[in-house]
Order: sequence, then structure tokens, then C-alpha cells
Amino acid sequence: MTAKLVINADLPKNVINKNIYGHFAEHLGRCIYEGLWVGEDSPIPNTDGIRNDVIAALKKLNIPVLRWPGGCFADEYHWKDGIGPKEGRKRMVNTHWGGVVENNHFGTHEFFRLCELLECEPYICGNVGSGTVQEMSEWVEYMTFDGQSPMAAWRQENGREQPWKLKYFGVGNENWGCGGNMRPEYYADLYRRYQTYTRNYGDNRLYKIAGGANVDDYNWTEVLMREAGRFMDGLSLHSYTIPGSWEEKRQSLGFDEAEWFETMQKSLHMNELITRHSAIMDKYDPQKRVGLIIDEWGTWFLNEPGTNPGFLYQQNTLRDALVAGIHLNIFHNHSDRVQMTNIAQMVNVLQALILTEGDQMLLTPTYHVFDMYKVHQDNELLEVSLQSPDYNFGGVTIPQLSVSASRDGEGKVYVSLCNISHEAAASLSLDICGITLSSVSGQILTHGELGAHNTFNNPDTVAPAAFEGVSLNDGTLDCELPPASVVVITLE
Ligand code: AHR
Repeated sequence: MTAKLVINADLPKNVINKNIYGHFAEHLGRCIYEGLWVGEDSPIPNTDGIRNDVIAALKKLNIPVLRWPGGCFADEYHWKDGIGPKEGRKRMVNTHWGGVVENNHFGTHEFFRLCELLECEPYICGNVGSGTVQEMSEWVEYMTFDGQSPMAAWRQENGREQPWKLKYFGVGNENWGCGGNMRPEYYADLYRRYQTYTRNYGDNRLYKIAGGANVDDYNWTEVLMREAGRFMDGLSLHSYTIPGSWEEKRQSLGFDEAEWFETMQKSLHMNELITRHSAIMDKYDPQKRVGLIIDEWGTWFLNEPGTNPGFLYQQNTLRDALVAGIHLNIFHNHSDRVQMTNIAQMVNVLQALILTEGDQMLLTPTYHVFDMYKVHQDNELLEVSLQSPDYNFGGVTIPQLSVSASRDGEGKVYVSLCNISHEAAASLSLDICGITLSSVSGQILTHGELGAHNTFNNPDTVAPAAFEGVSLNDGTLDCELPPASVVVITLE
């Protein structure tokens, strides 16, 4: 069967906020330390302690925003421990993540330097679980106050004369779990209180993000919107793709076709989650003023054998590429409400874009999807209508294809397609209304083996290639998508 896809280029919808391509870096395992921060004295080439190879690779992705310092770590983090001369910084135990000693060498100043190097917006998550209102309030003052104040003076003593610009500020993380095990009613009140004292100094304007629901906890969203909706700019949602179960996770490598199917099915579940959380938000905020901020998503497998289980280090295969492509398509298609997402995490943790080992670095299949899809950032979302073939496995049916489309300021149209099937190719005929096509090109990410991945010895096993499977015939595009493939087509 030939699938039929119609794209209405004359029916632009909302803008796809580039922040959907946001990232997350936590003090967890080897994400910050080793992955990003090696210190000024490291033999690994670095700029002010941040490794040059990783920065160069990440800069290519046009990263819009980076969330830090956690995660669960955020609700144990005391920012005053991470400023001033490094030798005097307090050492603490990172109880959530492996029980290792955190020397606080990467703190507020280093984070802003990282964002400067990446040319991205900082998104800081404050501590509600074990921190005080005063501590959070003073952090905002330290970072953004322009004038004479105790915190501004302290910042200046520590070498930063001018305040930084800070827009995105999270008031706690997973406050239903590691961030305090709270009930939504209690957290809603705490949110209202803590956010009151995060001030807008000078012309700095905070975009305040409330800690949102875990997966399908719709009651959390209901209570937060009802009790605190008018005090927030964004409400978060966390949902990971976990084959097996939370208690019995699976390996990132060595999976079979059943696990491939289960992973795809669970990725597609994000569509239902957003639809249902958005419907609740619509009830309290029909103008869609409050953004849905999916500030943690991605695959979660068992840690690689021989690594610290608390470090959440996993390999990243073609399967992760499909998970990324499916999620980004879903986020685009809900971008009237979804204003930011942050994949977990940037380097060496969970569905990482980059893996490092000593001075070596590799780009994962997920990295390549972000690179291929970045053309959608800040474009107009286009209406698509797709009759997808079915993908059946073990008596369960899901759609075989995932799609989204957008148009940039110059009128170029981008179509991103995932063929989710592990074994079946897909033929697709694409009608595009509203533009006269003169040229078509594309990129594809695929491999003959579902578990294909990049290693330090073979870093280019899974890498994008020119897509030859598309042709233009009398204004209609015909596409042949191999199984397990991610494709982005450019139409001019
Ligand atoms: O990303 C890893 C952890 O997952 C985060 O610290 C936490 O917020 C979530 O449970």
C-alpha cells in the first residue's frame, strides 16, 4: 500500500518554538564532570575549563536553551556552595547519583560561561525540596540584580561585574518525588510562595516554570493549574520512554524486535500525554498563555554493564534515533501549547547526544536526529494529513509513520518522517498544496541493523546520508522509506 500524505503549505499554524530543541545537563554521573567540565588545568583542550570538542559539536545543533543543575540534584543543590575561589568550595555528597563527592567546581559562573560558549539561553532550576525561600530569592538577586545589593556585590567580588540575563527559572523539580514527595495541593501553595520572591530586577523578566506532573498524573496538572496557574508562565511534564518497566528496565543494546516495537509504542504515547495534559490546561488557560514545558524526556535503559548504576550511562542506537524523531514530530504538532522541551541528557547520561571517554568523543544517532531536524526551529508549523499504514506486532497495532512539516522565513518547506517499522519499507506519495516545487533534497539516518550504534573505535556507523529515495513527478513527491529510518526532506 502507498501511504498518502497531504501538506497544506498555505495553512500555516503556530510557530514551532525553537526551545523545543532544548537540552538538560545535571550533576549526574559524567554529564557535567568529564562530559562538559574538565577544569582549566586538564590536558583535554578546554576554554575556561569546558571541553572544546564537545562545545564545537553542540554548537552545530543551534542549541536554544540548557536546563541546569538538575533534575533531582536541583532540590539538593545549594548555590552558595558553588561560587567563589574553587579551592574554598564546599564538598558534598551527591546522594541521588552514585553517592560521589561533588566538589562544586562547576557552579553558577561556570554554567553561564557554558551557555555563553553554546550561545544558548540558561534555564536554572531552583531548590524547593531542601532549600529556603530566601536562598532561592538571593540566587535570582545574585544573578540578575543590577545595582548595589548584598548579592550583586558578592557576584562582583567573584569576578562578574554585570548581571547575567536570565529568563527561564524552574521552581523545583519533580516535587511529587525526589523534590520533596509532596501532594499537588501542598506544592501548589509552596510554588506560589517561592515564586513570589523570585523578583524581576531591572529589565530582566523571569519566565517562571512550575514543577509539573509525572507522566499521566493528570490530577497534578489539574491542581496546579487551578491553584497556581495564574502565577506561572510554564508548567512542566516529565515522561521517559522505558521498555520493560521502571522496576525492570532493559539494556540499551541487544534488544529484540518485540522490544523495538514496545519502545516505539511507548514513544507514541507522548501524543496522548500532551493531548490530555493540554486539555486540562485549556480549561484554565484557553488563551494558551502557560507553556507546557517537557523538561525531561528520552529513553531510560539499564546502565551499561560495568558502570556505576547511579551514573545512568547507556549506549544509544538507531532505536534512540527513532525515539527522538517521533518525539520531535509530536512536539511540533503540539507546539501551540508545547513551548520548550529538554532531552535528558546532553552528554554521557540517558539518551545522550554525545558520549565521551577520556579525551575521546562520539556523536550518537540521537545527535544526528537533532542535527537533521534543527531546520524546523522557529518555523511555521504546517497542517499535515497522513493516512499511515499500520504497524502490527504481537496483536498490537500502531501507525507505521510519524510526520511533521514546517515552513521557514524564505518559504522552504521541511518534512520530517519516521518509518517506525523494524522490517517494512514504506511507499509514500506526498501532495503539497500552496507552493510550486522546483527542487527537493533530503537526508536519511538508518542502518541495516536495529541495534547499530557508534563506538569510539567506529564513530560513524550510524551517520546521516543524502536521501535518494525521493522523486518529484508532476508536482507529486514519491518517497521510499526504508524500515527503521528517519528522513528530513527539504522542498523549495
Ligand atoms: O534525568 C534523570 C532524573 O530523572 C532527573 O534527575 C529526575 O528529575 C528524573 O527523575
